[in-house]
Amino acid sequence: MRDKPNIVVLGTGGTIAGRGASHANTAAYACSVLTIDEVLAVLPQAHALANLRTEQLLQTGSENFNNEHLLLIGKRVSDMLEDADVDGVVLTHGTDTIEETAYFLHLTLKSVKPVVVVGSMRPPSAMSSDASLNLYEAICVAGHPASRGRGVLVVSNDEIHTARDVVKTNSFKLEAFGSPYGPLGYVVEGQPRYYRTTSRDHTVMTPWSIDRIESLPKVDIVYAYGALDEQAIVTFLGNTDGLVYAGTGNGNVAEHLVGALRRAARDGVQVVRASRTGSGVVVRDGAQPDSDYGWIVVDDQVPQKARILLMLAMSGEPKERDALQAAFHRY
Ligand code: DGL
Repeated sequence: MRDKPNIVVLGTGGTIAGRGASHANTAAYACSVLTIDEVLAVLPQAHALANLRTEQLLQTGSENFNNEHLLLIGKRVSDMLEDADVDGVVLTHGTDTIEETAYFLHLTLKSVKPVVVVGSMRPPSAMSSDASLNLYEAICVAGHPASRGRGVLVVSNDEIHTARDVVKTNSFKLEAFGSPYGPLGYVVEGQPRYYRTTSRDHTVMTPWSIDRIESLPKVDIVYAYGALDEQAIVTFLGNTDGLVYAGTGNGNVAEHLVGALRRAARDGVQVVRASRTGSGVVVRDGAQPDSDYGWIVVDDQVPQKARILLMLAMSGEPKERDALQAAFHRY
């Protein structure tokens, strides 16, 4: 038995690695300038929680992350988890796309060891920064046995969220993350307290292993509004493998856009109706005859998570549309 868990902290940049010109700069600052060692240097308390090993994996804002970044992060986290000396992994990350990377890891890592993705809304230099506390709490969660087998977690603002549900819902406040069904638990005085689990399959329960994925299909998102021109959809045809349509309300499609989306499906593009509302489900064969048109609907996945799931569902052997549809109700 070890006296403390062995935790690897991987740095990728973001506000948690940012620095402002003054303490008053909570939202204007240079992003991704501090190394992970510099971020941890002002958090000596973290060493009482765990034996820490660090690695600077990337150093950039998460708005820049593309599929290659996802694969790179996933494979490195997987390497770490395979090491018998590692009990858990913390990944520091810009908050903008944390929910996408975390969901990708949640669906592709093959381990029950805790993986916690964490960022901050204010750089360490700002007054009342959340950087040190969020990182401290992420290490607490990653090192605690109660976190095993829960899939990938996102810790922010004293809350522990499942990667499946969490979404950044505010561009500015410390209370920036929410899950439509609430967090899984809280971090209280350096201890995770869990109140629920996610019922959807993840990590060791999915068919996707990051170690076997070398590339991902191209999936794009079209954001709906009343005056959206058909050309916005046509532009993607011949240039993408899947299209998530972030429709109004229950995934509604304006009459003048139906033809272009039907054409996309006929041309072999996987069309997924989602909702731009931010929560709720899209009902199959409800607002649109999806079965007739060869379209797929999300369950409750927001468009950016639907994109991640569709890429994975389409990876590997070609799949029937029914199999792709089923993935949205399983994960
Ligand atoms: N550049 C943004 C990002 O890396 C900053 C947002 C943040 O980290 O809070 O996601």
